[in-house]
Amino acid sequence: MIGLFDSGSGGLSVLSALRARAPHVDISYFGDIAHAPYGTRSAQELIDLTVAGVTTLKEMGATEIVSACNSVAASVLAGAAGTTPVIEMTRPTSRGMKARIGTRVLLIATPATIDSKIYEEALRGVVELESLAVPELAGAIEFGADDATLSTIVHEALKKKRDQRYDSLLLGCTHYPLVLPIIRGEAQRFFSGIACINPAEFVADEVVRLFDCAGTGSLCFRISVDSAPFRNRVHELFPEGRYTIECV
Ligand code: DGL
Repeated sequence: MIGLFDSGSGGLSVLSALRARAPHVDISYFGDIAHAPYGTRSAQELIDLTVAGVTTLKEMGATEIVSACNSVAASVLAGAAGTTPVIEMTRPTSRGMKARIGTRVLLIATPATIDSKIYEEALRGVVELESLAVPELAGAIEFGADDATLSTIVHEALKKKRDQRYDSLLLGCTHYPLVLPIIRGEAQRFFSGIACINPAEFVADEVVRLFDCAGTGSLCFRISVDSAPFRNRVHELFPEGRYTIECV
C-alpha cells in the first residue's frame, strides 16, 4: 500500500494525478491539518513532522511513501523518512523539467521550500530558475479562503516580478494546483503566454514507474484535526464516496 502525506489538502493534487494513472492503487493518506501550514515552520520542526507523518502512514499500513509536500522535501532528502522507500517532489520534477531545458522558470512556493534551496539544487543546469516565496497562500487554500482573497495574494506576489519574462511558472507547493484557474489567471496578466507546471504530474509518473500500484482501489484518509474544506475537496474529487476519513 502506498502512503501519501502532506500538511493537509495539498497532497490531493498528487493523489489525483496518481489515481488518473493507477485507478486501482491502494492508498493511505495523512493530512496533518493540526500543524498546517507547514511552509512557515523551521527546518527542525519540519524534520520532526516528517518523522511523525511517516510513522502515521506506516501505522496505516503503508509500505512505500510519497511525500506530497514540497516543504518537507529537504527533510526527506536528509533522511527523515528512515529506511522506508520514499518519493519526494523535487527529484521527479527535475527529471520532468529536462523537457524544458534552458528555459526561464519562476518557482512559487512556501518560505520553507524557497529557503531550503531544494529546487535550486534539483534544477541547477536544467533551467534558469528564479524563486518567489508566497507565505500566505498555502494556509489560505487549506482553510478555505474565498477566490477574491486568493487572487489578491497571488496578484500581490507575482507583481514583484512584473518586469521579468518567464516561459513557465512552477507550482512548488502541492496546494497550488487546487486553485490552478486563479493562479493561471493572475500569471497571464503579468507574463503573457506563460505555462503553469504542476509537479504532481512528474511525481505520479515516478510513483507508477517505481512503486507497486496493483490493488483494489481502497482509499483511507486520516487527518489530525477535522476540517470541512478538506472533506469538501475529497468529496469533489471522489463524488462516488468510496473512501473513509478518520480524525485522530
Ligand atoms: N503542500 C505543502 C507543500 O507542498 C505544504 C504547504 C504548507 O502547509 O505550507 O509545500
